[in-house]
Amino acid sequence: MARKFFVGGNFKMNGTIASIKEIVQNLNNATLDPNVEVVIAPPALYLLLVRDSIKNGVEVAAQNVWNKPNGAYTGEISVSQLKDSNINWTILGHSERRTILAESDEVVSSKTKFATENGVSVIWCCGESLAEREAGNTISVVSGQLEALKSQVSDWSRIVIAYEPIWAIGTGKVATTEQAQEVHAAIREWLKKEVSQKVADETRILYGGSVTEKNSKDLSKQPDIDGFLVGGASLKPAFVDIINSKQ
Ligand code: PGA
Repeated sequence: MARKFFVGGNFKMNGTIASIKEIVQNLNNATLDPNVEVVIAPPALYLLLVRDSIKNGVEVAAQNVWNKPNGAYTGEISVSQLKDSNINWTILGHSERRTILAESDEVVSSKTKFATENGVSVIWCCGESLAEREAGNTISVVSGQLEALKSQVSDWSRIVIAYEPIWAIGTGKVATTEQAQEVHAAIREWLKKEVSQKVADETRILYGGSVTEKNSKDLSKQPDIDGFLVGGASLKPAFVDIINSKQ
């Protein structure tokens, strides 16, 4: 089964009602490659605005979700609230949450488990810091993050993996096509060895970190790059070009 190319837009903590309406209008007016799955993740406050106004065929994701049913968890959003709002995706484990909000592998894995078991698909992020890359530890860091995920998760059909080297996020320093492909191939090999051939064949592995319309075409040609998670450029009209970059 061919893996459907996937492009996610992570707006992070950016935008206003006016600017987000503009992004939605731009996507609604654009011709998007029907062979690409597109999922956009606005800040929580704007999820319903986007859900209600985006055209059919573009899905909406939260940027985070909690690992318990509804209850006394001030400031959190539940999986059932997402589903109630027809939001069927969430990002989890983004490096900004792992580092700034100190989310551990275990917390990220438990949230991924709760979401996938309750019907919300997950863009699960992993990736190494610059120091870890320079020390030659990229593959072991990413494997460790995957191990933690595997220890809690069994339904891989609801997971899309985003490999996002921390040093490439928001820095303008994109990984070379070779650097990205090398890690993507290692992730796929890990899935084959540690989960199954089927999961390795079917799981989309996205690249994230300073993706733009200028570098997306070359990256998309790599055999193990199945799409992108786009931050800054997802706020710009050129996001459409990234979505349509797969030849
Ligand atoms: P960037 O962010 O495209 O702005 O580098 C990517 C991400 O954090 O998902």
